[in-house]
Amino acid sequence: MRHYPSAAEPAGRSLGDAETAALAEVIASGKLNFTVGGTQTPALEHEFATLLGVDHAVACSSGTAALHLAVGAVDPAPGDEIITTPLTDFGTVIPILAQNAVPVFADVDPETGVLDPVSVESLISGRTRAIVAVHLFGAAAPVDTLREIADQYGVALIEDCAQAYLTALPDGRLAGTVGHASCFSLQQYKHITCGDGGLAVSADPQFAAAMRLFADKGWPRATGERTHLSFGMNYRMTELQAAVARVQLVKLPSVVERRRHSARRLAEALRPLAGIRVPADLDRHAVWLLPVVLDVDAAGADNQAYAKALAAEGVPVSAGYLDQPVYGYPAIAQRRLYGGSGFPFTSPPARVEFRYGPGLCPRAERLIGRTLLVLHWNEAYTDGDVDAIAEAFVRVHHRLRVGSLHPGAEIGV
Ligand SMILES: Cc1ncc(COP(=O)(O)O)c(C=O)c1O
Repeated sequence: MRHYPSAAEPAGRSLGDAETAALAEVIASGKLNFTVGGTQTPALEHEFATLLGVDHAVACSSGTAALHLAVGAVDPAPGDEIITTPLTDFGTVIPILAQNAVPVFADVDPETGVLDPVSVESLISGRTRAIVAVHLFGAAAPVDTLREIADQYGVALIEDCAQAYLTALPDGRLAGTVGHASCFSLQQYKHITCGDGGLAVSADPQFAAAMRLFADKGWPRATGERTHLSFGMNYRMTELQAAVARVQLVKLPSVVERRRHSARRLAEALRPLAGIRVPADLDRHAVWLLPVVLDVDAAGADNQAYAKALAAEGVPVSAGYLDQPVYGYPAIAQRRLYGGSGFPFTSPPARVEFRYGPGLCPRAERLIGRTLLVLHWNEAYTDGDVDAIAEAFVRVHHRLRVGSLHPGAEIGV
């Protein structure tokens, strides 16, 4: 069976001699942390802020940590509410729980899986402190509309850009430049990596200062004073991570462009297929994964059947992205945190008792269970790889459609 490069192996990563040389330089310097005068971390922050065109970036130890800096800077009181999506990595939600706030799950757009602003606005309450929007798979979430809502109700907008390096909004601005803070991940599977790592950016100097304090134990290190002004964690990025990330950053535009190129090639091949929908915005999509949304009737089968059939053809694919919405995970649904106390979902401190279960976000549940397929994507895919995926898709589509029209007839097709 054909082997497709993946982010878990050298062929599917852009790591090489330049990263090795950068690491060797840091080790020779003896300064493995910026707190002793290491220069890599501040340089990475400067370069990343420049790339996005924002004034401030704070490097940290993971994408989850970056989101924690942002939520920490919002500083919710126990039981305050933060609205987010159930179709995301748990790392989007962990910081909300860690800060004793309550995640309130809004439903998503049935085509793209990004937050639906109408659902978000309907969930705003007197306790809402922030909205965390995820640019899912690299598609732009409607952050302009969400920012208007955030401003109208006096809450913060945080953009989760872990999957969305260089995603462009419809007007050409980059994702990550609209929210009060935006958070990126450098974890192994992301567009660029240093193993684990994160970056939080903000145009607001006060918000950025609060994030910087949160990443470093609340310690205002630049003043030379040993004091702790606010609650924080040790989420510092090491110089080793920063050195690798800086080299990776130079490669980022080419990584994204290659992903877009191959995604457009596949989209061209899939567009004529009945019931198969590919993103319409691939010129500005970061294509972390390539989502395909099925019209189950026209496509002849649901995402589970498609994923099984495509996997049997060797195509790297999954049904639904997640097995269940984030609110279905035991950590939330069974309240497995804070000693089984029910905190912070109980009232008080919450406004009302929060319970999570099936039916909360029907559109997200339908995407997961019925309509969403995600093709694992990689910048190293060749045109030949893409054509092989397209051919497998066409075969599977034909077989499943014939099977749905004439049950039993798929055998031998
Ligand atoms: C949308 C999203 N948010 C947050 C995270 C958390 O990032 P990390 O794994 O670097 O903590 C991820 C990464 O898996 C992600 O995909």
